[in-house]
Amino acid sequence: MATINDNYLKLKAGYLFPEIARRVNAFVEANPDAKVIRLGIGDVTEPLPAACREAMVKAVEDMGDRDSFKGYGPEQGYAWLREKIAAHDFQSRGCDIDASEIFISDGSKCDCGNILDIFGNDNAIAVTDPVYPVYVDTNVMAGHTGDINDKGEYDRLVYLPVTAENNFTAEIPTQKVDLIYLCFPNNPTGATATREHLQAWVDYARANGSIIFFDAAYEAFITDPNIPHSIYEIEGAKECAIEFRSFSKNAGFTGTRCALTVVPKNLIGKAKDGSPVEIWKLWNRRQATKFNGVSYIVQRGAEAVYSEQGQAQVKELVAFYLENATIIRTKLSEAGLDVYGGVNAPYVWVKTPSGLTSWDFFDKLLHACNVVGTPGSGFGAAGEGYFRISAFNSRDNVNEAMTRILSKFK
Ligand code: MLT
Repeated sequence: MATINDNYLKLKAGYLFPEIARRVNAFVEANPDAKVIRLGIGDVTEPLPAACREAMVKAVEDMGDRDSFKGYGPEQGYAWLREKIAAHDFQSRGCDIDASEIFISDGSKCDCGNILDIFGNDNAIAVTDPVYPVYVDTNVMAGHTGDINDKGEYDRLVYLPVTAENNFTAEIPTQKVDLIYLCFPNNPTGATATREHLQAWVDYARANGSIIFFDAAYEAFITDPNIPHSIYEIEGAKECAIEFRSFSKNAGFTGTRCALTVVPKNLIGKAKDGSPVEIWKLWNRRQATKFNGVSYIVQRGAEAVYSEQGQAQVKELVAFYLENATIIRTKLSEAGLDVYGGVNAPYVWVKTPSGLTSWDFFDKLLHACNVVGTPGSGFGAAGEGYFRISAFNSRDNVNEAMTRILSKFK
């Protein structure tokens, strides 16, 4: 009989969001008349920007003509898209990122997991707690951890707690770690990182030969001009950081799929024999072997984000969700709850009332208000006693959800 990857047996039963969906589906089955509002998974609800749709329609036409038809594209993504990204998202902010250092993919979630292919099995890995579960689970799958304990922590991972007590800012570790996952604006807490905080991480990484995996999927939600959008705005980051970005949350591509990963050419890791190896070459090799690129049609849609019309439409979309976040923050505060995040981020992080556990509060909101959120403990042990509300929904649903919550909690 074929053997399996036993590391999968160490995983908690279900990935967080399918587990929530399972519980919500069971509730809906038992209460078919309940009008459930889903503010759990951060999935967008508003239509794709017209500029992207028009570009994709045009791209479909291209595919119908022998002269403009496209077969396999470059595994790294088309140069016309990578050049726009380099100029607009990085060079315009003073980041010395070249188009050749950008790899187009079908999602940041995939890349966050896939990147582990090119790293060794003996790295010490640090994650904040709470954290986007993909960082942890993919390391478990790759065999980089030991077993899970009663608190839900995996042996061999270094957890850096972020709570209201430390203003949701992880302390720089005192021990040496090789790989560090950072996500700003943060999923799930909605916290942002100052330039000084990021500089402290970059200094740490350079001093210790560590690599930072910087997840900037929510950078479009930054409105404060003092908050960096990219880790490469920080001096020295090109020597120690890989950045993940996505079109999912700014341009509503969760169902369309397009993202990018930046691997700077001067980023170095070490082989078993101690010799230096360029990380870029490994990632390029990995992508060329295991990936055939994102469809031409979708890349044309992503390119349209950088047109004048696209920029205006994306700005409007982001502002819409940020307004939702403001409504959520305001109403939940009125309900007497302690709220965090949701200012430069689409997630509001709430302290559960009356000492309820995260899952108790989940059940209470679902049963009393028919509103779905995400239990903080699903993001890690230090998330216990917190709850995440996503601002990705229609205005009507957000208003209705807040009315229901206020009526039960005020
Ligand atoms: C979330 O709700 O945390 C996000 O939707 C996850 C993701 O983008 O994969």
